[in-house]
Amino acid sequence: MGQIEKQAGVRFFQPRRLGHVNLFVSSYERAAEFYQDIVGLEEVYRQPDNRASFVSNGNTYHDLGLTDVSSHYAQKNQQPGLNHIAFEVENEVDLVKGYNQAVGAGVKFMSTQDHDVAHSLYKLDPEGNAVEVYADVVEDWRTARHGVFEKVKPEWIPGVTNEPLSERLYPNNPPIHVVPSSVFRARRVTHAGFVADDYENLYDYYTELIGLTPYVGDRGSEYCVLRGTVSTEGLSLFRRPAGTPQGMHHVGIEVKDESELDRALKKMAENGIALEREVNHPARRTVCILDPDGIRLQFYVNRQWDPSQLKGIDLQEALYLL
Ligand SMILES: [Fe+2]
Repeated sequence: MGQIEKQAGVRFFQPRRLGHVNLFVSSYERAAEFYQDIVGLEEVYRQPDNRASFVSNGNTYHDLGLTDVSSHYAQKNQQPGLNHIAFEVENEVDLVKGYNQAVGAGVKFMSTQDHDVAHSLYKLDPEGNAVEVYADVVEDWRTARHGVFEKVKPEWIPGVTNEPLSERLYPNNPPIHVVPSSVFRARRVTHAGFVADDYENLYDYYTELIGLTPYVGDRGSEYCVLRGTVSTEGLSLFRRPAGTPQGMHHVGIEVKDESELDRALKKMAENGIALEREVNHPARRTVCILDPDGIRLQFYVNRQWDPSQLKGIDLQEALYLL
């Protein structure tokens, strides 16, 4: 973080929750199949012009964006992995207020975008992970987004292009579909895990500039779970252990109950999906696999998901649990 961004106590946004994770994948068509048939997230819409598919079971218009490494959004020689994580705020008024305060304090954003269903700000965190903060501006996203969707995105200048909306337009207790035939029957994407080279700096960035709140751990611990105002997770940060690469470690996906994990473990074998690691902990049970590009997916069910249960866990176990 730059000096200006590191002013103590600066908190520009108050995210509700992690809204989605956008991944770079080596083939967006293949990824769309994998994420529907194996993970259990339905394709809501695809954008052939961007070479991207968007999958969700109703939590929001996409829990995951699957962007092809050959998309115009990708860098030259883009490798599969994280494109960005995105945090949802209450409304556009809050988004624009936070943006103006941040810009006034010298914070620079990578871009601002009009996605028609949402207005978004993008920024790189101090370790190069891209972060989006957005507000939904259309309530009925199923009408706005389905099937094949192609549209040139207009310019959006926060607070200038339009009068910011004060309505809360995010999905409120939406019905969550399941894909009955899928291996995992995912319900929703709830968090990402990042391995930090400079843990304190990343902790400050996400708790101050982005405005997440610690649920587990703190600035001095080996790991932490940061949450939004309506969630008990969102982003887990880990001090980098030797031999573990910096950057995104996993995407966290909630399933309904433990019988779903047991069922998935059986079906995985039938479908040739390898178990990377399973963690049985009083606070949470997780099953980790790798997607076709080696991106780690952590399926989980919370047990006693309570901070008191989550102290002093070995870092190597915490990486697969939180
Ligand atoms: Fe996004």
